[in-house]
Amino acid sequence: MSASTSLADLAHAEWVRQALAEFAAADTPAQLENAKARFLGKAGVVTEAMKSLAALTPDERKARGAAINAAKQQIEAALAARRQALAESELERQLAAEALDLTLPGRRRGQGTIHPISRAAERIEAIFASMGFDVAEGPEVETDWYSFTALNNPENHPARSMQDTFYVDLKDAEGRWLNLRPHTSPMQIRYARQHVEAHRDLIARGGRMPDIRVIAPGRTYRVDSDATHSPMFHQVEGLWVGQDVSFKDLKVVYLEFIQAFFETRELSLRFRPSYFPFTEPSAEIDIRFEAGPLAGRWLEVSGAGQVHPQVIRNYGLDPEQYIGFAFGSGIDRLAMLRYGVNDLRAFFEGDLRFLAQFR
Ligand code: PHE
Repeated sequence: MSASTSLADLAHAEWVRQALAEFAAADTPAQLENAKARFLGKAGVVTEAMKSLAALTPDERKARGAAINAAKQQIEAALAARRQALAESELERQLAAEALDLTLPGRRRGQGTIHPISRAAERIEAIFASMGFDVAEGPEVETDWYSFTALNNPENHPARSMQDTFYVDLKDAEGRWLNLRPHTSPMQIRYARQHVEAHRDLIARGGRMPDIRVIAPGRTYRVDSDATHSPMFHQVEGLWVGQDVSFKDLKVVYLEFIQAFFETRELSLRFRPSYFPFTEPSAEIDIRFEAGPLAGRWLEVSGAGQVHPQVIRNYGLDPEQYIGFAFGSGIDRLAMLRYGVNDLRAFFEGDLRFLAQFR
């Protein structure tokens, strides 16, 4: 081997060494292709060396050429190996990024809960249903007649101001403004008239109409807003009409209901004289817990009374033959007492931190 050949060999070995180092340092395909261009590209070291062969003698060219080719093959092999390594690590990176951790807990669907007011209403319905009461619902937008006049509360009567009513910008067939019912009492009229209609023939023959026994829960509205009043609130109306019903029946039923609702027998009732146009006599029902955090205080929960003869007439019945007892209780009030909530507005603000407590 001539001296010039061995020098060239050294130079070729140096290219290979440098190329391997640069390929190894390339972290991305783009960096690798740039490095490749420096050795194997058009103006790369190897290509330039090939071009310079033309100036050599045939013998020199043969020896030099063989050495350059050997170096070129080594560089190409190193390039292919590095390309594959980069492709593999890219695949691994992608797989790792897409990996599913099957040991993670599943994601729960946010499931709602029954609103505490609905829950209270459902309890009330179940308790009265167990005592043989029907459950009825009716419209929230009412006519003047159902909300007031039929309930013996005529136009311009001062008792109308007991309920600061919302009116709707629409008139009924008689030309009177519709209202957002300020109480569930219109349901007394609606339900009783249907019941009477359903037994019209029997009544006409002088037969005995089955008693009306119904509750009517639902939304009610008044212009009122503070910690214990909301412009939209809930009431449950109760009505029992028959031929020999008495105040005693109302009292027994209500006591049974309230003790079942609060799940305690240590609870007393008090009927306090009051006034409603549609009952005579009228009463407020107060309750008192004998034990627990609310013990000893009388708490007002309901209006009640014997149905006024004029209202019995408006049911389509003869007040000489039929007698009725009615009550109207605040569902929100009962829910507040049962769940220990002291601001009524919390029920209607939709704050999940509050509502989730009733799960
Ligand atoms: N409707 C009355 C109110 O809203 C309550 C009531 C109902 C009173 C039935 C007597 C009889 O205050």
